[in-house]
Amino acid sequence: MKSIFQATVRDLSHKGLGVVDHPDGRTFFVRGTWPGDFGEFEVDHGAQKYDEANLLQIIKSSADRIEVQCSFRGYRPGQCGGCPWMIAEYSSQLKYKIKRLHHALEKRKVSVASEIFRPIVASPKIYGYRNRVQLKTDGRKLGYVSEASSIFAPVNHCMIMNEKLHEIFHEVLATLPRDDFKPSGGHNWCYLDLDDELKSHEITVNKRRPFRQGNTEQNVFMKKWVELKFQNLPKHFPVIDLFCGSGNFTEVLSGLGFTNILAVEVQGSALTMLKNKELRGVRILELDINEKGSWAQIAKYQPHARAILVDPPREGLVKRKGFFKYLDNLEHIFYISCELDTFSRDTSDLVNHHWSLREVTPIDLFPHTPHVEILSHFSKPNS
Ligand SMILES: C[S@@+](CC[C@H](N)C(=O)[O-])C[C@H]1O[C@@H](n2cnc3c(N)ncnc32)[C@H](O)[C@@H]1O
Repeated sequence: MKSIFQATVRDLSHKGLGVVDHPDGRTFFVRGTWPGDFGEFEVDHGAQKYDEANLLQIIKSSADRIEVQCSFRGYRPGQCGGCPWMIAEYSSQLKYKIKRLHHALEKRKVSVASEIFRPIVASPKIYGYRNRVQLKTDGRKLGYVSEASSIFAPVNHCMIMNEKLHEIFHEVLATLPRDDFKPSGGHNWCYLDLDDELKSHEITVNKRRPFRQGNTEQNVFMKKWVELKFQNLPKHFPVIDLFCGSGNFTEVLSGLGFTNILAVEVQGSALTMLKNKELRGVRILELDINEKGSWAQIAKYQPHARAILVDPPREGLVKRKGFFKYLDNLEHIFYISCELDTFSRDTSDLVNHHWSLREVTPIDLFPHTPHVEILSHFSKPNS
């Protein structure tokens, strides 16, 4: 059964979808809407996504709405489903990113003094900023699989790729159709990791690249931030770069002159890249931090660590007990997070273990998405 209703979008949800109230009192989430939009919506009461309504038409646009410049954006079959916030002014996107951060911390009852929050660091480029993307291909076309429809949507242009990546994208596109790009894994596509550090002929299907920060300009900022935070610490301090990847931040620590850096990471291919950098003062530990005994192992290799840089994947610090048990000498934690829920969870735990939150700097790595990256600093009260 379907019903149609009119409403004003009153907020954005946790996932960044518009929030509307149905006349019967229920709340629905709507893709492709922005707070202030007055529109007509349809609810399919038998649909799988029971809490989502579809936008039928915008009757009056939000003052923050802008004309979308990408012809592939949208949620119908054949549209890519990406860049959900491309409908709004960038300043409004940033405002809602900050709101998401505050909301996530409030939900965990973490109270943060206002001077701890630094202004959000806007992306210098809001189009053409991405240095890598994962595309899908059926051997004939390149595209994305829409999160909304789960349908493969071919594209021949992508506004968020940087110039170099776009060139590579077109070089690969020019080689199609080809038989080595075979659908796999029960899908009608396979995946391609495109990266502006690769040549187009080096790109192979279903081969995951080690992690790389996706916005080159903002990565420069993040490295500078790490440099500023560590530069005043004594260089003989034993430090840990946990979730070091291929050494993006390890390079900074080594460059500052730290002589005792333990770089920890699970992915062997990332660590091979780090080894090839031949950084001074760095020892490498290949380890899955979620495995039993991993914190004890870190403590064995770096028993007197005084500062730690933590840059986990979205799941955050899943196994934290060992962290509190083994790293007694720690004075500073620099926590870089790509996921607000787990950042808030871990912050709450740290605060409950008597760590003081000194700084929270949100930074926008991915314009047109709800994503917010956090740069944060915790210290022991008398450090
Ligand atoms: C957000 S990335 C950060 C990488 C690096 N700091 C950078 O800036 O490029 C997170 C890293 O954690 C690694 N990782 C994920 N799960 C892990 C685990 N359970 N144990 C150790 N490392 C893990 C990933 O392979 C990835 O390199």
